[in-house]
Amino acid sequence: MTEKKRILSGMRPTGPLHLGNLHGALMNWIQMQEEYDCFYFIADWHALTSDYENTSMLAEYTKEMIIDWLSAGLSPDKSTMFVQSQIKEHAELFLLLSMITPVPWLERNPTYKDQIIQLSNKDLSTFGFLGYPVLQAADIIMYKPFGVPVGIDQVPHVEITREIARRFNFLYGQIFPEPEAILTKTPKILGFDRRKMSKSYNNAIFLSDAPDAISSKVSLMITDPQRARKKDPGDPEVCNVFEFHKIYTDGSITADINAKCRIAGIGCVECKKIMAQNLAVSLEPIREKRKYYEANPKIVDDIIADGNIRARKVAVKTMEEVRNLLKI
Ligand code: TRP
Ligand code: SF4
Repeated sequence: MTEKKRILSGMRPTGPLHLGNLHGALMNWIQMQEEYDCFYFIADWHALTSDYENTSMLAEYTKEMIIDWLSAGLSPDKSTMFVQSQIKEHAELFLLLSMITPVPWLERNPTYKDQIIQLSNKDLSTFGFLGYPVLQAADIIMYKPFGVPVGIDQVPHVEITREIARRFNFLYGQIFPEPEAILTKTPKILGFDRRKMSKSYNNAIFLSDAPDAISSKVSLMITDPQRARKKDPGDPEVCNVFEFHKIYTDGSITADINAKCRIAGIGCVECKKIMAQNLAVSLEPIREKRKYYEANPKIVDDIIADGNIRARKVAVKTMEEVRNLLKI
């Protein structure tokens, strides 16, 4: 049997996962389990790069995120799930990589420039925030994956990772493969206010939402903005609700809604009711599994502990090679 190729990806524990995260990353991660040797981790140190002032929720969000992962279908039998801060080797590699990373590579990182502007309410003029991609490079090359499944926003970080790996190999010896970004195709589902779905915008539907929370959020959803009254025809192609139908509603019913909307044969209230119902049904198995893990926290702890052991084994070996190359 040939060995499966390895991939690795991580998420910052910033709160409960929503449908944007599910379709933007998690579904892809779940699928990749069948084909690859997958390493998935919680980037809790990365959460500190912007949220260093308040760390009170970090441990809870970390555990909650693992529960979201397990409930959605990541399996400890197929994937190695671990927590960044529990593998101290990441800190050592981060330090060594920081020695060889030119500051201008970090200063011209588009995410860095963007975030400084967007998160102007926080003081991000820290060493750690500038060094975000160096820590990410350490996370990645530690496990020598061939690919990193990420959304488009993370591509610059994978690019910097490749540059750092190349520089390391050039200076000390060829040990790190240059990982590729594996782009995740995302359906364009938006929050109920039509902005990008995000916890901080308060417009998200969470994997853990109960059916009544789902219906009330769906009832708030902005539809075709041109369709003011029920007797006006609508355009499903510009309607966020319709994007959800494409995912959660049976194809023939979706086609029917498409046709009826265009001739004002269905009202938005009814259309939303159908969608909310299908969405709730589709999230039900995730909610069921979540109940199980919430009732059995020891099982979750064991899964994390086991994943940490598996990850640490790889990390320890990589760091031995690294120290040998550096003669340290
Ligand atoms: N920066 C990533 C994000 O915000 C999280 C992350 C940290 C990551 N380390 C990683 C993703 C390594 C992929 C690989 O989404
Ligand atoms: Fe959107 Fe449905 Fe209203 Fe058409 S009927 S605009 S698809 S919510």
